[in-house]
Amino acid sequence: MKNKSIYILGIESSCDDTSAAVLCNGKILSNVIANQEIHTNYGGVVPELASRAHQQNIVPVIQEAIQRANIDKKDLTAIAFTRGPGLMGSLLVGTSFSKSLSMALEIPLIAVNHMQAHILAHFIEEKNQQKPPFPFLCLTISGGHTQIVKITNYFEMEVIGETLDDAVGEAFDKTAKILGLPYPGGPLIDKYAQLGNPNTYQFTKPKMDGLNFSFSGLKTGILYFLQRNLKENPKFIEENLYDICASVQRTIVEILMDKLEKAVKKTGISHVAIAGGVSANLGIRKSLENAELTKKWTTYIPKFEFTTDNAAMIAIVGYLKYLENDFEFDNTSATARLKVSES
Ligand code: KG4
Ligand code: ZN
Repeated sequence: MKNKSIYILGIESSCDDTSAAVLCNGKILSNVIANQEIHTNYGGVVPELASRAHQQNIVPVIQEAIQRANIDKKDLTAIAFTRGPGLMGSLLVGTSFSKSLSMALEIPLIAVNHMQAHILAHFIEEKNQQKPPFPFLCLTISGGHTQIVKITNYFEMEVIGETLDDAVGEAFDKTAKILGLPYPGGPLIDKYAQLGNPNTYQFTKPKMDGLNFSFSGLKTGILYFLQRNLKENPKFIEENLYDICASVQRTIVEILMDKLEKAVKKTGISHVAIAGGVSANLGIRKSLENAELTKKWTTYIPKFEFTTDNAAMIAIVGYLKYLENDFEFDNTSATARLKVSES
């Protein structure tokens, strides 16, 4: 008997990106993302504006995803949506829409944990893409999370280290804000870091035992460093922007790599992946690549399109859950807090 094609529509609306994707048997047919420019003016995501923008974007984004996939909505096998974690108002838009569409099309509904999705994006079927074998470690770095996760199976995940204050994406964005760069500043720091000397300035790194992280002290250290220098030279930032960005980036990457190295030693697992928005950072990508040679790790670096929030990662989890018949009931609801260990 010929195997049936399984078409999953993934819907992501946890923060400020409205995204829809269609996967056929785990392969991407479309992955549409609508960013919300509106937050740039406010220097950060404004939750109420985010939910309104999702409300406006969700229908056209889903229509475009289905159109680009070159299928009819009646061909869909199931719908996967982000249940959490995230901003409640944003999550509710995707959740309610997914529920209604699954009822209208009379197809199953699948709930997805956004943090698991960042990690499981490594299992999207791609040409020449090596998938990590179990168990593996994943450094999940985004605007809201910084975790080292041990993955024993698709849905068996354990956090073995995490930040006790700011997430690494926040450290990038807050530093960028102090430097006068627009939100989200992480990608800009990365861009300017490529043009500067990473060893120009030294910043004190946090002293944290074990595998946990802390980034709030670093942010304050950078603020005081800039205030001191601006007193002497009001043009300090504009004259040294590239070197400041390169030095900040080197410091953050060293903190992350140091903990990863400890995690590999502690667990004996040397298959190491990165995931989340900050895994787009060229500094961390290069350091991980180097670790293949210098530390003999096998590393898994996601394609850029799967690093920041996207619905293809939601759809691949939908596919994996579909294969396990893990479906939702009509009374399912969004949840702002959800641990990576919870499905
Ligand atoms: O995963 P994501 O899209 O959303 C959350 O779930 O948080 O991550 C967004 C974060 C932002 O803090 C953004 O500044 C950061 O990822 N980011 C970067 C880079 N690209 C995105 N940080 C540093 N370097 C980058 N290239
Ligand atoms: Zn995310």
